[in-house]
Amino acid sequence: MIPSILLGTANIPNDGGVLRLTQRGNDFSIHLQGLRGELMNSRVHSSELALAELGCAHIKGRENTKVLVGGLGMGFTLAAALKATSISSQVLVAELVPEVVEWNKGPLGECADKPLDDKRAEVYVGDVADLFKTEQATYDAVLLDVDNGPEGFTQADNNNLYSIESLRAIGQTLHPDAVLAIWSAWHDPKFTQQLKKAHFDVEIKTVRAHKGKGSRHTIYLAKKR
Ligand SMILES: C[S@@+](CC[C@H](N)C(=O)[O-])C[C@H]1O[C@@H](n2cnc3c(N)ncnc32)[C@H](O)[C@@H]1O
Repeated sequence: MIPSILLGTANIPNDGGVLRLTQRGNDFSIHLQGLRGELMNSRVHSSELALAELGCAHIKGRENTKVLVGGLGMGFTLAAALKATSISSQVLVAELVPEVVEWNKGPLGECADKPLDDKRAEVYVGDVADLFKTEQATYDAVLLDVDNGPEGFTQADNNNLYSIESLRAIGQTLHPDAVLAIWSAWHDPKFTQQLKKAHFDVEIKTVRAHKGKGSRHTIYLAKKR
């Protein structure tokens, strides 16, 4: 059996616990220490790519767009967002855990072909929620994959991110035809209602976890009404 090697650990801000980065053969895993489970495995990443492909489809070929990705993880969504947007566009990625950014500058960066090296990529080290405090329309797409679904998993504070107030605040930072795309390991009809109450029209996409196979994940595509 191929052994699992611990490459690093990191404290999640706000007493969120400990993140562990491990490698088994060519596969990397980021998981929460203890019984909380896996946040991400490099072996399975088709739905992380789909998040950006679906969330940026409306800006294909458009110049000077701005996309926000929350969080970095293994960089798959960031890489797909860079691929889906024009060379004059910018992609800002918010990552809560500074070590995750460092891991991506090291061996983990190979997973998604080092998207942080792209000049169009910018990193905000901190809580993605900080970027929704402005009321200025800034983004053409916001792609959120910070938990396993619309409830706090990485840190309890993330629960606030999916509240009606927070969704409305996110809406304020979007240009009129922008898309808010949210990744989830399950479909939660109550969250669709929540988005609607926050004045979004919602489309639900079901995507497979790995090259048309494996678990079914949900991507909520929300447009401001
Ligand atoms: C499931 S992973 C993201 C996977 C990513 N889509 C990819 O393609 O690899 C979740 C990431 O979000 C980060 N994160 C969690 N809460 C966050 C927050 N409030 N703000 C910014 N990043 C956050 C985690 O540290 C982790 O790196």
